[in-house]
Amino acid sequence: MKLKIEKNKILFVMLIGIGLVFSACHRDNNSTGQAYFPDMSYSYAFETYGSSPNFSDSIQMLMPVEGTIPREMIPYQFGKTFQEQVRAGQELVNPYTPDEAVMKRGKEQYTIFCSNCHGVSGKGDGYLVTSKLFTAQPVSLLSDYVQSKPDGEIFHVITLGSLSTLMGAHGSQIKPEDRWKIVTYVKNGLK
Ligand code: HEC
Repeated sequence: MKLKIEKNKILFVMLIGIGLVFSACHRDNNSTGQAYFPDMSYSYAFETYGSSPNFSDSIQMLMPVEGTIPREMIPYQFGKTFQEQVRAGQELVNPYTPDEAVMKRGKEQYTIFCSNCHGVSGKGDGYLVTSKLFTAQPVSLLSDYVQSKPDGEIFHVITLGSLSTLMGAHGSQIKPEDRWKIVTYVKNGLK
């Protein structure tokens, strides 16, 4: 008889235990169910893509304030006009000298970004031109016209493209230091 009561007690405790385990589950995956210390479970911060009661259009994630730039980014200071191209040539200084490492990197980047039009040698006979896929004739980078330009002007053309827009801007694709290394290669490595 005594043994039977003990058994019932154990069964009772087990049932409560199982009940507790199941009651902790929740149908909604986004809910933490019953929570002890709920301030840790529910953030009071707004969700990035959620709606906001603070603004009339209820948008939560706002655009950055006009003029905001990413950290450590230096905006390009010259516009796309002839005067600005000349000014870039007068004011920008190539930080590199044509040493082995600079020329190696410059050649690498030139081959990737410029040789398809200007040709490996710079004469204007790249694949896109000889195959007639690109119909404008690039100037020869070996010409006096290009070689006599200050480094900053070539940097400017790479950054914003040519004034006729036949050559596109490469500023978003090539890091500034690599643009300078390409300039160094164009001035000292092409033949
Ligand atoms: C899609 C083909 C194409 C690519 C890629 C290209 N260029 Fe050009 N480039 C041209 C054409 C076409 C011209 C002639 C543009 C004109 O007359 O306005 C030109 C002109 C130039 C000029 C002379 C600009 C001037 O003031 O008259 C320079 C310097 C130059 N390119 C350098 C480069 C360098 C360096 C690269 C690689 C970063 C490059 N180009 C990539 C097609 C290209």
